[in-house]
Amino acid sequence: MAIREILLVPNPQLKQVSEPVERVDDDTRALMDDMLETMYDAPGIGLAAIQVGVPLRIIVMDLAGKDEEPKPQYFINPEILEDVEELLPWEEGCLSVPDYYEEVERPGRVKIRYLDYHGKQITEWAEDLYAVCIQHEMDHLNGVLFIDHLSRLKRQRAIRKVQKAARDKALEAAE
Ligand code: NI
Repeated sequence: MAIREILLVPNPQLKQVSEPVERVDDDTRALMDDMLETMYDAPGIGLAAIQVGVPLRIIVMDLAGKDEEPKPQYFINPEILEDVEELLPWEEGCLSVPDYYEEVERPGRVKIRYLDYHGKQITEWAEDLYAVCIQHEMDHLNGVLFIDHLSRLKRQRAIRKVQKAARDKALEAAE
């Protein structure tokens, strides 16, 4: 396993639409292992393959609480089959937009279908944080970031904040 570099906004790769995985094999699993390690290291609760520069429809997630055992989840070619009308506001963040949090509203329950780590098809309802997170990550597969759901002003503010932090970090490293 290896920790990969997480792409930050405004990297244009993050706007790319990811391709479906044709076969779940050892290469797919090696990528998912790397993604999970990268996500834990960050640390974060969800990561899409495009965030490490791989344009495939793959997501890893772990929604276990701080004091709970890790509960890694893997989603290949996820689809939303059904959702509910009631929207759930949630303060979201993203490893590609570090240190920026803003409320987004999404359906509070979604029925999803995906392939798991072993390529087995799963269909289930996700709700609350699970619903929020899977929708946030599935947006990544379509080149959409959570800041794209915000006003243009907030989106620009978020991107500038990330760019400034990256510049400060580069300056620090140069000193
Ligand atoms: Ni994200």
